[in-house]
Amino acid sequence: MKLQQLVEEKVGFLIVFTVILISFGLLVQIVPLFFTKEVITPTEGVKPYTALQVAGRDIYIREGCYNCHSQMIRPFRAETERYGHYSVAGESVFDHPFQWGSKRTGPDLARVGGRYSDEWHRIHLINPREVVPESNMPAFPWLARKVVNPDVVVRNMKALKTVGVPYSDEDFAKAPAELENKTELDAVIAYLQGLGLALKNTR
Ligand code: HEC
Repeated sequence: MKLQQLVEEKVGFLIVFTVILISFGLLVQIVPLFFTKEVITPTEGVKPYTALQVAGRDIYIREGCYNCHSQMIRPFRAETERYGHYSVAGESVFDHPFQWGSKRTGPDLARVGGRYSDEWHRIHLINPREVVPESNMPAFPWLARKVVNPDVVVRNMKALKTVGVPYSDEDFAKAPAELENKTELDAVIAYLQGLGLALKNTR
């Protein structure tokens, strides 16, 4: 029996060969990325998140901000005119997991760092309607009432280290002081203000 006939007549073989073929295709696309310099090297100016930013990023994920906000500027005129330089892989090397997303109920946040003052964010997160009357973004008033737990953040930083973020023991030791009396709101703002700065003023 010829291979072609086997695949056409025996559905089990069809499934097995299809799986082999698709797996091979995926491996050819994905594996080289692990070794491509511009994908695994941080873009100049991209640093690991500070302890406060790590806390903020965690809250960003917990509150589901990614359900409405992408962090991925596509290389199209309409996007770069609005948001700035398109996103590059080297900006996400310290993001585990990355927050690229695809749903944009609100604007992309990849380069929101420095666009508004801390005070603007504070008001906006507690009640978006106060600064953007037509906004349908939910309010997150509880962020201002909860204090960040340093133990959790340090454990998170240690976990990030195991997947390649270059934190040192000194970073772990300094973290509790940096986080002292910081609210979750402070943390989210620190995270937002750091987003996309490396390629902020280039086009
Ligand atoms: C239900 C969808 C939704 C969720 C969830 C959401 N947002 Fe928004 N967000 C919006 C919309 C819509 C806007 C545009 C109107 C405005 O500025 O309020 C916006 C605007 C923003 C802006 C201003 C962006 C700019 O360039 O003007 C920031 C910053 C922001 N959101 C942060 C957050 C954070 C942080 C969270 C999670 C704590 C969050 N958003 C959750 C819908 C959402």
